Amino acid sequence: MPSTLYTDISLLVTNDETLDKGLLGELEGAAFVEEDGHISWLGEKSQAPDADHRISLAGKTVLPGFVDSHAHLVFAGDRSVEFAARMSGESYSAGGIMNTVKATRAASDEELDEGIATRALEMYRSGITTFETKSGYGLNVADELRSVKLAVQHTEDVTFLGAHVIPDEYKSRPDEYVSLVIGEMLEACAPYSKWIDVFCDEGAFDYDQAKAILNSGIDAGLLPRIHANQFTSSRAVELAVELDCASADHLTHLTDKEIDLLANSKTVATLLPGAEFSTRSAYPDARRLFAAGAKVAIATDCNPGSSYTTSMPFCIAIAVRDMQFTIEQAIWSATMGGAKALQREDIGSLSVGKVADFVVLDAPSYLHLAYRPGVDLISETVIAGTSIYRSNK
Ligand code: NIG
Ligand code: FE
Repeated sequence: MPSTLYTDISLLVTNDETLDKGLLGELEGAAFVEEDGHISWLGEKSQAPDADHRISLAGKTVLPGFVDSHAHLVFAGDRSVEFAARMSGESYSAGGIMNTVKATRAASDEELDEGIATRALEMYRSGITTFETKSGYGLNVADELRSVKLAVQHTEDVTFLGAHVIPDEYKSRPDEYVSLVIGEMLEACAPYSKWIDVFCDEGAFDYDQAKAILNSGIDAGLLPRIHANQFTSSRAVELAVELDCASADHLTHLTDKEIDLLANSKTVATLLPGAEFSTRSAYPDARRLFAAGAKVAIATDCNPGSSYTTSMPFCIAIAVRDMQFTIEQAIWSATMGGAKALQREDIGSLSVGKVADFVVLDAPSYLHLAYRPGVDLISETVIAGTSIYRSNK
């Protein structure tokens, strides 16, 4: 396979802690070589070895690709009217999920597949190189099954979320729905899924239901993650830590005790800036998590109800402006933090042996991602050495 030397990089973010160059492992005037989809050499540009191709990135910044560890891309329909109502003063509740369930059940496979592909392309244009996606808008065996089957054509990180909300037809018999999720639905979806997730919150599933569902998923060979504390400080964080969930996501509300639990666990605390933005909720304060020593990720939570964005730069800007991340912490959380939330060692950082997933920014520094909110700075997105998006600016 031909090798490519990327050189004259104004600023390279490696996230390599062994370099002793700050949280982001920053190098100026660096270069690296990509071969067979991996980084085969990285260092000072004057030391660079010969390669088959040479690309100069003068004036540009290179970062590890963004890792979006939480998204809901399999759906049909539109809830912009609900969003507009919220902006006029109405509040958000889990109930709106059923509107998307109706549209999703009515959509053809082709429509659903095209929706995933369109949103994935938007993600690549925003610098995301790895994304997770959940099911959760089918909520019956056939529609959850086709959701995960379609999703796995687009990403390895498919999450079975049959426990998103109790569908209307089971409202009076929630226990029967839980039995369906842990029985027939899980059996059908597990072969196409890597993860299992539960929305454990007010209006969704309680601690006992969530525990039964996650444990059944674990028994079926899936790895657990959880939607926790979007509306209330429930027992979802306790459950996340108890079951060693890869990640507890949302965390809009957190007590000191819950922060302590997360900080002393393997569970990544995943914050979703788009969700607070789009539901006009108070933002959590990330300083509390960092001060306690928790591992933090930022994800888009792309979904039609509470966060219809595929833009990681937008989420980074909000995290910095309103959630008290430093810019360095926000960049780390959107790259390495996301990789940790997906339990991946081979992505999220750039050093010899890692996958060559990276983003080229048309900016002299990553600071511009928060400093220039809403401005498209993504010059190129590269996945395993292959350019997947190039801006025509
Ligand atoms: O992550 N919190 C639960 N699920 C989604 C919202 C889904 C919807 O409103 O359609 C979320 O925010
Ligand atoms: Fe979500």
